[in-house]
Amino acid sequence: MENDRPLDAWATEIDFIPDPAAKQRALDDFATYLNPQKVRVMRSAGLDLIEAERSGAWVWDLDGRRFLDCFTSAGSFNTGRRNPRIVAAAHEALDRLDHGNFLLCSRQKAELAARLAQIAPGDLSCTMFGTGGGEANDFAIKLARGATRRPKIISTINGYHGHTGFALSAAGRSAFRQPFEPLMPGFVQVPFGDTQAMLEEIDENTAAVLLEPVQGEGGIIVAPAGYLADVRAACDRAGALLILDEIQTGLGRTGKWWASEHYGVVPDIMTIAKSLGGSLVSISATVFSEELREFMIPNPFIHLSTFGGSDVACAIALEVINVIEETGLVEHAAAMGSLMFDGLHEIAGEHPDIIAEVRGLGLMAGIQYAEDSLGPRMSYHLAQHGVLAIYSGNQPSVMRLMPSLVIEEAEVTFLLDAMHLAIKDLKAGVGPNEAHGRAKRRPARPAPAT
Ligand SMILES: Cc1ncc(COP(=O)(O)O)c(C=O)c1O
Repeated sequence: MENDRPLDAWATEIDFIPDPAAKQRALDDFATYLNPQKVRVMRSAGLDLIEAERSGAWVWDLDGRRFLDCFTSAGSFNTGRRNPRIVAAAHEALDRLDHGNFLLCSRQKAELAARLAQIAPGDLSCTMFGTGGGEANDFAIKLARGATRRPKIISTINGYHGHTGFALSAAGRSAFRQPFEPLMPGFVQVPFGDTQAMLEEIDENTAAVLLEPVQGEGGIIVAPAGYLADVRAACDRAGALLILDEIQTGLGRTGKWWASEHYGVVPDIMTIAKSLGGSLVSISATVFSEELREFMIPNPFIHLSTFGGSDVACAIALEVINVIEETGLVEHAAAMGSLMFDGLHEIAGEHPDIIAEVRGLGLMAGIQYAEDSLGPRMSYHLAQHGVLAIYSGNQPSVMRLMPSLVIEEAEVTFLLDAMHLAIKDLKAGVGPNEAHGRAKRRPARPAPAT
């Protein structure tokens, strides 16, 4: 850190005039020109806010209310929203650069790829850039198939890797896949954390196993001890590759640079996106071993992306990595995560009728409520107390808490106090979805899926 200033000190330095009429217009236009059901779902969960100002761990609704952002676009704002150092790097980049020419070699791409090689686990040292997480996973799967000349890709039930072609074929939720079938052939899914089921599928036709070390969209399911190491060993025996999707878990989210470090496992391919863009631009990276580069060397034009790793985005991503390293954000996330989990476990102990389980790693927490309706209802009550927290589209009984890693102790306390107050309101039957502490009507079925 440059000085003793709290990491999130800039967050409150905001000058902002609310505009409720503009908010209503935005909601009306969204319903008319994008999707009315999304507006209904968000309203019923008290989440019909229109983001106006954004700073650090906080976001302001156009109507002037301030929220501690505990969703962060599913872990996309690790360095905080509009971190001033990253905004300054973006200004500087915009003064000099643009996307750049994807066909030429680029200084910014080269610098970022070299930096990623420094911070990636093990011998992962080569990079292909993309624009988003799905694209990064698509390329990971292409590389695995191309390098092994094998067809089979094994992913997990409730796993989430994006909505592009190969990534969607690996989705562990049939609701996402089924309307678009037939998808890519050669994809199978097994239960996450079930070593035996995985070992039975890995064979001489397997190109790769694709896993999130902690399932995010699937409801914050942490890989059991030994699971990743067993899968790694089985892949090695069969000559298959291990792809770890660190799109939500990477860049310090779990209290380590990469979640794979908790398990002492190095993948062959790792995908990164979301927070790499510093909350300002979209950029993703598929990082892989030197051995796999052998496939790419004779085929430098076999995978192209006009905007993937644009010069501006690379310059911003470089500063994201510098900020994480120089402000000690990974260690800070571990410390704040430990405070957050202590508080959440205490609350769960006091209210076993509401919270069945608290799980996760670092600043990636999943609250398993005792029943489905509690997810949307708690989202509503937390919003009333200034916390933006979203239940899982996959499983409404699970709420994900993934604040920015710049969150400070006082903000963790704010979150825990809001949890207490929200449960109190829920039990008192306050709010549109409550009657004597029970659901009066079920909130519209959710679909936030990221
Ligand atoms: C683990 C994981 N992989 C992939 C993706 C897809 O990323 P994108 O939405 O940028 O395509 C997500 C998005 O939430 C994700 O959480």
